[in-house]
Amino acid sequence: MKYLPQEIIRKKRDGGKLSDDEIADFIAGIKTGETTDVQVAGFTMSVFFNDLSTDERVALTLALRDSGDTMDWSDMKLDGPVLDKHSTGGIGDNVSLMLAPILAVCGAYVPMISGRGLGHTGGTLDKLDSIPGYDTVPEPADFRRIVKSVGCAVIGQTPNMVPADKKMYGIRDVTASVESDALITPSILSKKLASGLDGLILDVKTGSGAFMDTLEKSESLANSLLVVARQAGLPTSAIITDMNQPLASAVGNAVEVKNAVDFLTGKHIDPRLYDVTVALCAEMLILGSMETEQEAAEQRVKDALSSGKAAEVFGRMCAELKGPKDFIENMDKYLSFAPVMMDIAAPKSGYVADINTRNIGLAAIRLGAGRTDPSAPIDYGVGFEDCLPIGAKVEVGQPIARVIARSEDAANMAAELMQKAYEIDDSFTENKLIYKILNDKPI
Ligand code: URA
Repeated sequence: MKYLPQEIIRKKRDGGKLSDDEIADFIAGIKTGETTDVQVAGFTMSVFFNDLSTDERVALTLALRDSGDTMDWSDMKLDGPVLDKHSTGGIGDNVSLMLAPILAVCGAYVPMISGRGLGHTGGTLDKLDSIPGYDTVPEPADFRRIVKSVGCAVIGQTPNMVPADKKMYGIRDVTASVESDALITPSILSKKLASGLDGLILDVKTGSGAFMDTLEKSESLANSLLVVARQAGLPTSAIITDMNQPLASAVGNAVEVKNAVDFLTGKHIDPRLYDVTVALCAEMLILGSMETEQEAAEQRVKDALSSGKAAEVFGRMCAELKGPKDFIENMDKYLSFAPVMMDIAAPKSGYVADINTRNIGLAAIRLGAGRTDPSAPIDYGVGFEDCLPIGAKVEVGQPIARVIARSEDAANMAAELMQKAYEIDDSFTENKLIYKILNDKPI
């Protein structure tokens, strides 16, 4: 190493500005072991308190990206742009399962590297793991082949993708240094840059079920992500969307896959989920220069869905990734659910006025749908369905949601948490769904 890690930490601790070279050296040392875990913790805490300039954020993003394998699609002779989406995380957010096949039908290629649940939020990777046989860690050559032939493949992070972020993220998680724009931005973007994208859309969530609970914090992160992504050469747009209630009416793993397939086949479409999915897909078509006008882009997305073609693509992706060949047609045969299903009664009459969405995520974790121990297995067959949205009118005793649990005790525990998470009142105020669209125009 050219620089001593402790000198780099000292400089940041004292509020100094690090050079690209210093940051690259420090991160390269993570791979060789010359930068120790304790030094990574010292560095991230110094950044937490003293922040990083835009240039430093870009340098950290690129250094993390370069710590492992990167993908290059240029030799694949693809006839459309390579696009992806990143959500900052929420509850009932199964958008990726619909967005990837919709965009593939529209002519884009979507190599989506998804993650596990984090904190109180769900993860796309955990949802896909509820499909028997579905391989979320295919060989890189198979991943590339499937992206080219089907148009999309949603998988997990390969072992050698951005390993320095894996290490740094794990250390941040246990040293109280996750919630920093300066650290979140490089962590997210390094992984997206490593996938060799032509364009990226960010779904930045805001509200009680998001990591950023106020619009101000969400905007700050969105702007950091946009500025750094663009400076790193990746065309990017962001949409700030509401997470003051679950996006889908289902929360869990298998139950969210079922909700997504019903959405794709048109059997059941949650309206807010539809609007967010259409908005994100349309923005991506514009970002990928596949459409220029919002209205035309939205129509193309709606057609991909209503024609049944997106459902067909999801089925092909599932079959290619070793899942059932008839998953779309016979989903109920493959998804398994816990045995106790119980309606959760409204404790009083009125309107759903507010939902503590984070607590719904925590209730799902208590049921087993998420982790308390990072290495522990999860229960794919538990969760909630038919969750009422804000504004719904209920009479006392009528269901606000249904819980799916392994035991009566677990169902009763979750029902109580849901009843507390739902505030029922004489009136309600609807939250906006889409707060802001930040396009790839100079800012
Ligand atoms: N997701 C990531 O990948 N990294 C963060 O730092 C936070 C959320």
